[in-house]
Amino acid sequence: MTILILGSGGREHTFAWKTVQSPLCDALFVAPGNSGTAQIATNVPINVTDFNAIKTLVLEKNIDMVVVGPEDPLVQGIHDFFLNDEQLKHVAVIGPQKAAAELEGSKEFAKEFLYRHQIPTAAYQSFDANTVEEGYLFLETLNPPYVLKADGLAAGKGVLILNDLAEAKTELKNMLVDAKFGAASSKVVIEEFLDGIELSCFVITDGKHYKILPTAKDYKRIGEGNTGLNTGGMGAVSPVPFATDDFLDKIEERIVKPTINGLQKDNLPYKGFVFIGLIKVGDEPKVIEYNVRMGDPETEVVLPRLKTDLVTIFKAISEERLNEIAIEIDERAATTVMLVSGGYPEAYEKGKVITGLETISDSIPFHAGAVVKDGQIVTSGGRVMAITSYGNTYKEAIKKSYQTIDKLHFDKMNYRKDIGFDL
Ligand code: AMP
Ligand code: GLY
Repeated sequence: MTILILGSGGREHTFAWKTVQSPLCDALFVAPGNSGTAQIATNVPINVTDFNAIKTLVLEKNIDMVVVGPEDPLVQGIHDFFLNDEQLKHVAVIGPQKAAAELEGSKEFAKEFLYRHQIPTAAYQSFDANTVEEGYLFLETLNPPYVLKADGLAAGKGVLILNDLAEAKTELKNMLVDAKFGAASSKVVIEEFLDGIELSCFVITDGKHYKILPTAKDYKRIGEGNTGLNTGGMGAVSPVPFATDDFLDKIEERIVKPTINGLQKDNLPYKGFVFIGLIKVGDEPKVIEYNVRMGDPETEVVLPRLKTDLVTIFKAISEERLNEIAIEIDERAATTVMLVSGGYPEAYEKGKVITGLETISDSIPFHAGAVVKDGQIVTSGGRVMAITSYGNTYKEAIKKSYQTIDKLHFDKMNYRKDIGFDL
Protein backbone atom coordinates (compact mmCIF):
# COMPACT_ATOMS: atom_id res chain seq x y z
CA MET A 1 0.00 0.00 0.00
CA THR A 2 0.97 3.61 -0.49
CA ILE A 3 0.24 5.56 2.66
CA LEU A 4 0.10 9.27 3.53
CA ILE A 5 0.39 10.55 7.09
CA LEU A 6 -0.80 14.11 7.75
CA GLY A 7 1.03 16.15 10.38
CA SER A 8 4.49 17.21 11.47
CA GLY A 9 4.93 16.41 15.16
CA GLY A 10 6.41 13.70 17.32
CA ARG A 11 3.11 11.86 17.01
CA GLU A 12 3.43 11.71 13.23
CA HIS A 13 7.09 10.65 13.34
CA THR A 14 6.00 7.81 15.65
CA PHE A 15 3.19 6.81 13.25
CA ALA A 16 5.72 6.85 10.41
CA TRP A 17 8.27 4.81 12.43
CA LYS A 18 5.64 2.14 13.10
CA THR A 19 4.15 2.25 9.60
CA VAL A 20 7.44 1.60 7.80
CA GLN A 21 7.91 -1.56 9.91
CA SER A 22 4.82 -3.00 8.22
CA PRO A 23 5.21 -5.43 5.32
CA LEU A 24 1.97 -3.93 3.98
CA CYS A 25 3.58 -0.52 3.50
CA ASP A 26 5.21 -0.12 0.06
CA ALA A 27 5.66 3.65 0.12
CA LEU A 28 5.14 6.31 2.76
CA PHE A 29 4.56 10.04 2.37
CA VAL A 30 4.25 12.53 5.21
CA ALA A 31 2.78 16.01 4.79
CA PRO A 32 4.39 18.21 5.85
CA GLY A 33 6.57 16.00 8.10
CA ASN A 34 9.80 16.89 9.91
CA SER A 35 13.46 15.86 10.06
CA GLY A 36 12.50 12.53 11.64
CA THR A 37 10.00 11.54 8.97
CA ALA A 38 12.45 12.72 6.29
CA GLN A 39 14.79 9.88 7.32
CA ILE A 40 12.20 7.13 6.71
CA ALA A 41 9.60 8.55 4.32
CA THR A 42 9.09 11.22 1.67
CA ASN A 43 8.06 14.59 3.08
CA VAL A 44 5.72 16.73 0.99
CA PRO A 45 5.39 20.43 1.90
CA ILE A 46 1.60 20.59 2.08
CA ASN A 47 -0.50 22.07 4.85
CA VAL A 48 -2.73 19.53 6.65
CA THR A 49 -5.87 21.61 5.98
CA ASP A 50 -5.19 22.24 2.29
CA PHE A 51 -7.62 19.56 1.11
CA ASN A 52 -7.23 20.35 -2.60
CA ALA A 53 -3.45 20.03 -2.45
CA ILE A 54 -3.87 16.77 -0.53
CA LYS A 55 -6.24 15.51 -3.24
CA THR A 56 -3.71 16.32 -5.96
CA LEU A 57 -0.98 14.45 -4.05
CA VAL A 58 -3.21 11.42 -3.39
CA LEU A 59 -4.12 11.11 -7.08
CA GLU A 60 -0.58 11.73 -8.30
CA LYS A 61 1.02 9.15 -6.00
CA ASN A 62 -1.86 6.64 -6.04
CA ILE A 63 -2.20 6.81 -2.28
CA ASP A 64 -4.42 4.08 -0.79
CA MET A 65 -4.65 5.26 2.80
CA VAL A 66 -4.50 8.60 4.61
CA VAL A 67 -3.76 8.65 8.34
CA VAL A 68 -4.74 11.95 9.92
CA GLY A 69 -2.55 13.02 12.86
CA PRO A 70 -3.93 16.33 14.20
CA GLU A 71 -7.52 17.40 14.91
CA ASP A 72 -7.82 20.42 12.62
CA PRO A 73 -8.34 18.56 9.33
CA LEU A 74 -10.76 16.16 11.04
CA VAL A 75 -12.85 18.94 12.55
CA GLN A 76 -12.81 20.65 9.12
CA GLY A 77 -14.15 17.45 7.55
CA ILE A 78 -11.29 15.84 5.64
CA HIS A 79 -12.87 12.39 5.89
CA ASP A 80 -16.15 13.70 4.43
CA PHE A 81 -14.16 15.50 1.70
CA PHE A 82 -12.74 12.13 0.61
CA LEU A 83 -16.08 10.30 0.81
CA ASN A 84 -17.85 12.98 -1.23
CA ASP A 85 -15.29 12.96 -4.03
CA GLU A 86 -15.71 10.34 -6.81
CA GLN A 87 -11.93 10.16 -7.35
CA LEU A 88 -11.11 9.84 -3.64
CA LYS A 89 -13.89 7.80 -2.09
CA HIS A 90 -12.00 4.50 -2.45
CA VAL A 91 -9.13 5.87 -0.30
CA ALA A 92 -9.11 4.67 3.33
CA VAL A 93 -9.08 7.61 5.76
CA ILE A 94 -8.13 6.98 9.38
CA GLY A 95 -9.95 9.57 11.45
CA PRO A 96 -13.62 10.28 12.20
CA GLN A 97 -16.01 12.16 9.95
CA LYS A 98 -16.81 15.79 10.69
CA ALA A 99 -19.97 15.14 12.71
CA ALA A 100 -18.08 12.86 15.10
CA ALA A 101 -15.00 15.11 15.22
CA GLU A 102 -17.23 17.61 17.01
CA LEU A 103 -16.45 15.58 20.13
CA GLU A 104 -13.19 17.53 20.09
CA GLY A 105 -14.36 20.51 18.02
CA SER A 106 -16.99 21.58 20.54
CA LYS A 107 -16.79 21.13 24.31
CA GLU A 108 -20.55 21.72 24.55
CA PHE A 109 -21.22 18.96 21.99
CA ALA A 110 -18.96 16.62 23.97
CA LYS A 111 -20.69 17.42 27.27
CA GLU A 112 -24.13 16.85 25.70
CA PHE A 113 -22.91 13.51 24.33
CA LEU A 114 -21.54 12.49 27.74
CA TYR A 115 -24.79 13.40 29.49
CA ARG A 116 -26.98 11.79 26.83
CA HIS A 117 -25.13 8.50 27.24
CA GLN A 118 -24.78 8.75 31.01
CA ILE A 119 -21.00 8.69 30.96
CA PRO A 120 -19.43 10.03 34.18
CA THR A 121 -18.11 13.58 33.79
CA ALA A 122 -18.06 16.91 35.65
CA ALA A 123 -21.35 18.80 36.06
CA TYR A 124 -21.51 21.81 33.72
CA GLN A 125 -23.53 24.54 32.05
CA SER A 126 -22.73 26.43 28.89
CA PHE A 127 -23.13 30.14 28.15
CA ASP A 128 -22.86 32.62 25.29
CA ALA A 129 -22.62 36.40 24.95
CA ASN A 130 -26.36 36.73 25.69
CA THR A 131 -26.19 34.77 28.93
CA VAL A 132 -23.11 36.25 30.65
CA GLU A 133 -25.16 37.28 33.69
CA GLU A 134 -26.50 33.74 34.07
CA GLY A 135 -22.89 32.58 33.83
CA TYR A 136 -21.93 34.81 36.78
CA LEU A 137 -24.82 33.36 38.81
CA PHE A 138 -23.75 29.81 37.95
CA LEU A 139 -20.17 30.57 39.02
CA GLU A 140 -21.53 31.78 42.37
CA THR A 141 -23.10 28.36 42.96
CA LEU A 142 -19.74 26.57 42.50
CA ASN A 143 -16.81 26.09 44.82
CA PRO A 144 -13.37 27.21 43.64
CA PRO A 145 -11.35 26.50 41.61
CA TYR A 146 -13.49 27.51 38.63
CA VAL A 147 -13.07 25.72 35.29
CA LEU A 148 -13.85 27.77 32.15
CA LYS A 149 -13.55 26.13 28.75
CA ALA A 150 -13.76 27.81 25.36
CA ASP A 151 -16.20 25.71 23.34
CA GLY A 152 -14.13 25.49 20.16
CA LEU A 153 -10.55 24.56 19.21
CA ALA A 154 -8.06 26.92 20.83
CA ALA A 155 -4.75 25.09 20.27
CA GLY A 156 -4.84 23.61 23.78
CA LYS A 157 -5.05 27.02 25.44
CA GLY A 158 -8.81 27.36 25.83
CA VAL A 159 -9.16 26.02 29.39
CA LEU A 160 -8.78 28.36 32.36
CA ILE A 161 -8.68 27.16 35.96
CA LEU A 162 -9.06 30.03 38.40
CA ASN A 163 -9.16 30.23 42.18
CA ASP A 164 -10.81 33.59 42.51
CA LEU A 165 -14.51 34.18 41.79
CA ALA A 166 -14.06 37.78 40.64
CA GLU A 167 -11.29 36.72 38.28
CA ALA A 168 -13.43 33.87 36.95
CA LYS A 169 -16.22 36.36 36.17
CA THR A 170 -13.80 38.71 34.41
CA GLU A 171 -12.37 35.89 32.33
CA LEU A 172 -15.85 34.66 31.45
CA LYS A 173 -16.62 38.11 30.10
CA ASN A 174 -13.24 38.26 28.31
CA MET A 175 -14.01 34.99 26.58
CA LEU A 176 -17.66 35.60 25.67
CA VAL A 177 -17.78 39.33 25.04
CA ASP A 178 -14.19 40.24 24.13
CA ALA A 179 -13.48 37.06 22.13
CA LYS A 180 -10.35 36.15 24.13
CA PHE A 181 -10.01 32.95 22.08
CA GLY A 182 -11.68 34.34 18.96
CA ALA A 183 -14.70 32.43 17.68
CA ALA A 184 -13.64 29.45 19.83
CA SER A 185 -14.89 31.28 22.93
CA SER A 186 -18.23 32.48 21.55
CA LYS A 187 -19.57 29.77 23.85
CA VAL A 188 -18.03 28.79 27.18
CA VAL A 189 -18.56 25.63 29.20
CA ILE A 190 -18.27 26.17 32.96
CA GLU A 191 -17.52 22.96 34.80
CA GLU A 192 -17.35 21.58 38.27
CA PHE A 193 -13.68 21.16 39.26
CA LEU A 194 -12.65 17.53 39.60
CA ASP A 195 -9.88 16.80 42.05
CA GLY A 196 -7.79 13.77 41.21
CA ILE A 197 -4.97 12.36 39.10
CA GLU A 198 -5.21 12.38 35.31
CA LEU A 199 -4.59 9.65 32.79
CA SER A 200 -5.47 9.04 29.18
CA CYS A 201 -7.15 6.05 27.61
CA PHE A 202 -6.74 5.38 23.89
CA VAL A 203 -9.30 3.46 21.90
CA ILE A 204 -9.37 2.50 18.24
CA THR A 205 -12.72 1.94 16.60
CA ASP A 206 -14.15 1.09 13.20
CA GLY A 207 -17.48 2.53 14.29
CA LYS A 208 -18.83 -0.88 15.36
CA HIS A 209 -16.03 -2.59 17.24
CA TYR A 210 -13.29 -1.24 19.43
CA LYS A 211 -9.94 -2.17 20.96
CA ILE A 212 -8.30 -0.48 23.90
CA LEU A 213 -4.66 0.54 23.60
CA PRO A 214 -2.33 0.99 26.57
CA THR A 215 -3.01 3.85 28.97
CA ALA A 216 -0.60 6.75 29.27
CA LYS A 217 -0.10 9.80 31.39
CA ASP A 218 1.32 13.04 30.07
CA TYR A 219 2.88 16.01 31.84
CA LYS A 220 1.35 19.21 30.50
CA ARG A 221 2.96 21.93 32.61
CA ILE A 222 6.29 23.46 31.66
CA GLY A 223 7.72 23.36 35.18
CA GLU A 224 8.81 20.62 37.52
CA GLY A 225 6.23 19.51 40.06
CA ASN A 226 3.48 20.34 37.51
CA THR A 227 3.92 24.09 37.83
CA GLY A 228 3.90 26.97 35.36
CA LEU A 229 2.20 27.36 32.01
CA ASN A 230 0.46 24.63 30.08
CA THR A 231 2.30 23.16 27.11
CA GLY A 232 1.41 20.61 24.46
CA GLY A 233 3.00 18.00 26.73
CA MET A 234 6.48 17.65 28.24
CA GLY A 235 6.69 13.89 28.63
CA ALA A 236 4.67 10.72 29.05
CA VAL A 237 4.66 7.33 30.72
CA SER A 238 2.91 4.08 29.70
CA PRO A 239 1.42 2.07 31.30
CA VAL A 240 0.02 4.20 34.10
CA PRO A 241 0.96 2.37 37.32
CA PHE A 242 -2.18 3.38 39.24
CA ALA A 243 -4.47 2.06 36.49
CA THR A 244 -5.08 -1.35 38.05
CA ASP A 245 -7.09 -4.09 36.28
CA ASP A 246 -10.07 -3.19 38.40
CA PHE A 247 -9.85 0.44 37.45
CA LEU A 248 -9.34 -0.44 33.76
CA ASP A 249 -12.49 -2.58 33.89
CA LYS A 250 -14.41 0.40 35.20
CA ILE A 251 -13.07 2.55 32.38
CA GLU A 252 -14.13 -0.02 29.80
CA GLU A 253 -17.61 -0.66 31.22
CA ARG A 254 -18.60 2.86 32.21
CA ILE A 255 -16.78 4.93 29.64
CA VAL A 256 -15.47 3.09 26.58
CA LYS A 257 -18.52 0.89 25.87
CA PRO A 258 -21.10 3.66 26.27
CA THR A 259 -18.90 5.95 24.14
CA ILE A 260 -18.73 3.50 21.23
CA ASN A 261 -22.42 2.61 21.58
CA GLY A 262 -23.25 6.31 21.79
CA LEU A 263 -21.43 7.00 18.52
CA GLN A 264 -23.58 4.35 16.84
CA LYS A 265 -26.85 5.48 18.42
CA ASP A 266 -26.18 9.10 17.47
CA ASN A 267 -25.11 8.16 13.93
CA LEU A 268 -21.63 9.61 14.29
CA PRO A 269 -19.36 7.80 11.77
CA TYR A 270 -16.05 7.02 13.41
CA LYS A 271 -13.03 5.17 12.05
CA GLY A 272 -10.00 6.13 14.04
CA PHE A 273 -8.56 6.91 17.43
CA VAL A 274 -10.59 8.09 20.41
CA PHE A 275 -8.42 9.73 23.05
CA ILE A 276 -10.33 9.89 26.32
CA GLY A 277 -8.88 12.27 28.89
CA LEU A 278 -9.78 10.92 32.32
CA ILE A 279 -9.42 11.94 35.89
CA LYS A 280 -9.46 9.45 38.76
CA VAL A 281 -11.63 10.92 41.49
CA GLY A 282 -11.39 8.59 44.48
CA ASP A 283 -11.69 5.25 42.69
CA GLU A 284 -13.95 6.48 39.92
CA PRO A 285 -12.92 7.44 36.39
CA LYS A 286 -14.56 10.57 34.97
CA VAL A 287 -14.18 12.03 31.49
CA ILE A 288 -12.50 15.41 31.18
CA GLU A 289 -12.41 15.55 27.42
CA TYR A 290 -12.52 13.65 24.18
CA ASN A 291 -9.94 14.13 21.46
CA VAL A 292 -10.53 12.59 18.06
CA ARG A 293 -6.87 11.74 17.44
CA MET A 294 -3.91 10.33 19.31
CA GLY A 295 -2.20 12.39 22.00
CA ASP A 296 1.21 13.94 21.60
CA PRO A 297 3.53 12.93 23.38
CA GLU A 298 1.36 9.96 24.47
CA THR A 299 1.73 8.41 21.01
CA GLU A 300 5.48 8.30 21.58
CA VAL A 301 4.95 5.83 24.46
CA VAL A 302 1.78 4.02 23.33
CA LEU A 303 2.81 3.00 19.80
CA PRO A 304 6.26 1.69 20.82
CA ARG A 305 4.40 -0.73 23.12
CA LEU A 306 2.13 -1.95 20.34
CA LYS A 307 3.44 -5.23 18.91
CA THR A 308 0.66 -5.66 16.35
CA ASP A 309 1.31 -4.37 12.87
CA LEU A 310 -0.12 -0.85 12.62
CA VAL A 311 -1.13 -1.00 8.95
CA THR A 312 -3.01 -4.26 9.62
CA ILE A 313 -4.91 -2.39 12.33
CA PHE A 314 -5.64 0.55 10.03
CA LYS A 315 -6.88 -1.81 7.29
CA ALA A 316 -9.15 -3.57 9.77
CA ILE A 317 -10.53 -0.20 10.92
CA SER A 318 -11.20 0.87 7.37
CA GLU A 319 -12.89 -2.45 6.49
CA GLU A 320 -14.91 -2.53 9.72
CA ARG A 321 -13.46 -5.82 10.89
CA LEU A 322 -11.52 -4.66 13.90
CA ASN A 323 -13.14 -7.56 15.81
CA GLU A 324 -11.12 -10.01 13.70
CA ILE A 325 -7.70 -8.91 14.87
CA ALA A 326 -5.90 -9.24 18.18
CA ILE A 327 -3.92 -6.38 19.70
CA GLU A 328 -0.64 -7.45 21.27
CA ILE A 329 1.10 -5.22 23.76
CA ASP A 330 4.74 -5.19 24.85
CA GLU A 331 4.93 -5.84 28.60
CA ARG A 332 7.74 -3.33 29.02
CA ALA A 333 7.10 0.22 30.14
CA ALA A 334 7.86 3.13 27.82
CA THR A 335 8.59 6.72 28.77
CA THR A 336 9.31 9.81 26.79
CA VAL A 337 10.86 13.16 27.71
CA MET A 338 10.25 16.16 25.46
CA LEU A 339 13.13 18.47 24.65
CA VAL A 340 11.82 21.99 24.13
CA SER A 341 13.16 25.33 22.98
CA GLY A 342 14.15 27.71 25.79
CA GLY A 343 11.26 30.12 26.43
CA TYR A 344 8.54 27.70 25.21
CA PRO A 345 5.52 27.82 25.69
CA GLU A 346 6.09 31.56 25.33
CA ALA A 347 8.38 33.16 22.73
CA TYR A 348 11.42 31.10 21.68
CA GLU A 349 14.08 31.08 18.98
CA LYS A 350 14.29 28.59 16.13
CA GLY A 351 17.02 27.31 13.85
CA LYS A 352 19.29 25.91 16.61
CA VAL A 353 21.49 23.03 15.49
CA ILE A 354 20.77 19.77 17.34
CA THR A 355 23.85 17.69 18.09
CA GLY A 356 24.52 14.27 19.59
CA LEU A 357 21.78 12.38 17.75
CA GLU A 358 24.30 9.95 16.23
CA THR A 359 25.32 8.81 19.74
CA ILE A 360 21.85 7.52 20.65
CA SER A 361 21.70 3.77 21.19
CA ASP A 362 19.37 3.10 24.12
CA SER A 363 16.46 5.39 23.19
CA ILE A 364 14.37 6.34 20.18
CA PRO A 365 14.37 10.02 19.26
CA PHE A 366 11.00 11.03 17.81
CA HIS A 367 11.46 14.36 16.08
CA ALA A 368 8.79 17.04 16.54
CA GLY A 369 9.69 20.70 15.89
CA ALA A 370 12.86 19.84 13.97
CA VAL A 371 13.69 20.08 10.28
CA VAL A 372 16.63 19.49 7.97
CA LYS A 373 18.32 22.70 6.87
CA ASP A 374 21.56 22.82 4.88
CA GLY A 375 22.23 19.21 5.80
CA GLN A 376 21.83 19.80 9.54
CA ILE A 377 18.95 19.02 11.89
CA VAL A 378 17.75 22.27 13.42
CA THR A 379 14.91 23.29 15.73
CA SER A 380 11.74 24.63 14.10
CA GLY A 381 9.22 24.63 16.94
CA GLY A 382 8.66 24.77 20.67
CA ARG A 383 8.54 21.04 21.26
CA VAL A 384 11.62 19.78 19.46
CA MET A 385 12.10 16.08 20.12
CA ALA A 386 10.65 13.31 22.30
CA ILE A 387 13.22 10.88 23.70
CA THR A 388 11.50 7.52 24.21
CA SER A 389 12.97 4.54 26.07
CA TYR A 390 11.82 1.12 27.18
CA GLY A 391 12.39 -0.44 30.59
CA ASN A 392 11.19 -3.29 32.76
CA THR A 393 9.77 -0.56 34.97
CA TYR A 394 8.96 3.04 34.10
CA LYS A 395 11.79 4.14 36.39
CA GLU A 396 14.31 2.13 34.40
CA ALA A 397 12.91 3.56 31.16
CA ILE A 398 12.98 7.13 32.40
CA LYS A 399 16.59 6.74 33.53
CA LYS A 400 17.56 5.69 30.01
CA SER A 401 15.80 8.70 28.49
CA TYR A 402 17.72 11.04 30.81
CA GLN A 403 21.03 9.29 30.07
CA THR A 404 20.38 9.78 26.36
CA ILE A 405 19.45 13.43 26.86
CA ASP A 406 22.80 14.04 28.57
CA LYS A 407 24.42 13.47 25.19
CA LEU A 408 22.11 15.76 23.22
CA HIS A 409 22.43 19.48 22.81
CA PHE A 410 21.00 22.59 21.22
CA ASP A 411 21.23 26.19 22.34
CA LYS A 412 18.74 26.93 25.17
CA MET A 413 17.49 23.32 25.26
CA ASN A 414 15.04 22.77 28.10
CA TYR A 415 13.22 19.71 29.46
CA ARG A 416 11.52 18.52 32.62
CA LYS A 417 13.73 16.48 34.90
CA ASP A 418 10.87 14.94 36.88
CA ILE A 419 8.75 12.97 34.40
CA GLY A 420 6.98 10.23 36.39
CA PHE A 421 7.66 11.97 39.71
CA ASP A 422 4.09 11.62 40.96
CA LEU A 423 3.55 7.93 40.19
P1 AMP B 1 -9.04 19.94 28.47
O1 AMP B 1 -8.54 20.76 27.32
O2 AMP B 1 -10.52 19.85 28.56
O3 AMP B 1 -8.33 18.62 28.57
O4 AMP B 1 -8.52 20.67 29.78
C1 AMP B 1 -7.16 20.97 29.97
C2 AMP B 1 -6.73 20.56 31.34
O5 AMP B 1 -7.49 21.26 32.31
C3 AMP B 1 -6.96 19.10 31.66
O6 AMP B 1 -5.93 18.30 31.21
C4 AMP B 1 -7.06 19.13 33.16
O7 AMP B 1 -5.77 19.18 33.73
C5 AMP B 1 -7.73 20.43 33.43
N1 AMP B 1 -9.18 20.25 33.59
C6 AMP B 1 -10.12 20.29 32.62
N2 AMP B 1 -11.35 20.11 33.14
C7 AMP B 1 -11.21 19.96 34.46
C8 AMP B 1 -12.11 19.73 35.54
N3 AMP B 1 -13.43 19.66 35.35
N4 AMP B 1 -11.58 19.60 36.77
C9 AMP B 1 -10.25 19.68 36.98
N5 AMP B 1 -9.35 19.90 36.01
C10 AMP B 1 -9.81 20.03 34.76
N1 GLY C 1 -0.85 15.51 25.19
C1 GLY C 1 -2.15 16.05 25.09
C2 GLY C 1 -2.70 16.13 23.76
O1 GLY C 1 -2.21 15.57 22.80
O2 GLY C 1 -3.75 16.76 23.62
